[in-house]
Amino acid sequence: MKASIVVLPGDGIGPEVASAGVAVLREVAQRFGHDFAFAEHAIGGDAIDRFGDPLPPVTREALLAADAVLLGAVGGPKWSDPNAPVRPEQGLLAMRKLLGVFANVRPLKLHPRTAALSPLKAERTKGVDLVFIRELTGGIYFGAKTRSDNDATDECRYSVEEVERVVRHAFDLARTRRRKVTSVDKANVLETSRLWRSVATRVAADYPDVELEHQLVDSMAMHLLTRPADYDVIVTENMFGDILTDEASVLAGSLGLSPSASIGGPGAGVYEPIHGSAPDIAGQALANPLGTILSAAMLLRHSLGLTEEAAVVEAAVDHVLEHANLTRDLGGSATTHAVTRAVLDACAAKAEEAA
Ligand code: NAD
Ligand code: IPM
Ligand code: MN
Repeated sequence: MKASIVVLPGDGIGPEVASAGVAVLREVAQRFGHDFAFAEHAIGGDAIDRFGDPLPPVTREALLAADAVLLGAVGGPKWSDPNAPVRPEQGLLAMRKLLGVFANVRPLKLHPRTAALSPLKAERTKGVDLVFIRELTGGIYFGAKTRSDNDATDECRYSVEEVERVVRHAFDLARTRRRKVTSVDKANVLETSRLWRSVATRVAADYPDVELEHQLVDSMAMHLLTRPADYDVIVTENMFGDILTDEASVLAGSLGLSPSASIGGPGAGVYEPIHGSAPDIAGQALANPLGTILSAAMLLRHSLGLTEEAAVVEAAVDHVLEHANLTRDLGGSATTHAVTRAVLDACAAKAEEAA
């Protein structure tokens, strides 16, 4: 098949991990006879430096015409002055809004070798297999903001429609899994959470075969570490989902392993690791590329419908997690490039097995 893929390397380790994702997609294209065209565009701090705009018009145009988007990460100390007029992260948020990708899918699967590196005891993490659905284009991230010398405000707003579509997405997904949805909110304090809870309860009536439980976000942060295997699909609003998914990544052994898919819009889906630009390790070939490579697998499955190809990439990553020297975050000493090479070799072997 033919597909045009926009690549947004961004800042810090973004370009290092994005090129790993592209290398894997090129390998898949070659092995399975697909024609993927890659176009690189600027976003974030890099785009501020080159265009004075974290999401310049040329990038916007390319995004609207793409079949799928692979992103590294944006941001860094160079652009982080709290008084700066414009920030890299604004480019990311503008892109999500532009593409209307309201459902951010963040799966968490454990591999025995890396789970052993988790600070949690093995008996706690046994059997963990969960997926977060994070609302991505609403809430406090996108409400009105004010700032004066003496105070500042961030408005948090959700409409019924915004809540309903993402909750339905979670229920539909749960039907393909263990049929349990945990809706996370702060309904004991926030009005937006009370709206969220009532919409989730109403939607659940359309899914009598799926169990719904409500959980407050503060205790959820605790249960995620004490009984993570009890969860299947977890749906929550934008900021709670941001925080809980970084926390959950620790269960798998490293933040560098977690992929994401941002979908639900009329156009392209966006695929990116959940981690940031990691300025502390940028430019040192220490970045774990596997979160981005697994995001590329999600791109193959969700945006291009290439199920077999996605499974080959995931099996290759499993093989590497089992056998290869890994990056430093997972206790190894391999470079980003060496881990990527190992995945490419494993992809070639798996593709041959499949043929
Ligand atoms: P971060 O996710 O960049 O890093 C947190 C820690 O995890 C660091 O110690 C880092 O070295 C480590 N880490 C992250 N990814 C790794 C990988 N692939 N391999 C090995 N180690 C990895 O979070 P931060 O330091 O709080 O944020 C840095 C910048 O990234 C900020 O400007 C923030 O806004 C931005 N950010 C961007 C995105 C995105 O583009 N989607 C996501 C999160 C944060
Ligand atoms: C993420 C990031 C972004 C978010 C930031 C950089 C705007 O943390 O993708 O998880 O909060 O959504
Ligand atoms: Mn985040």
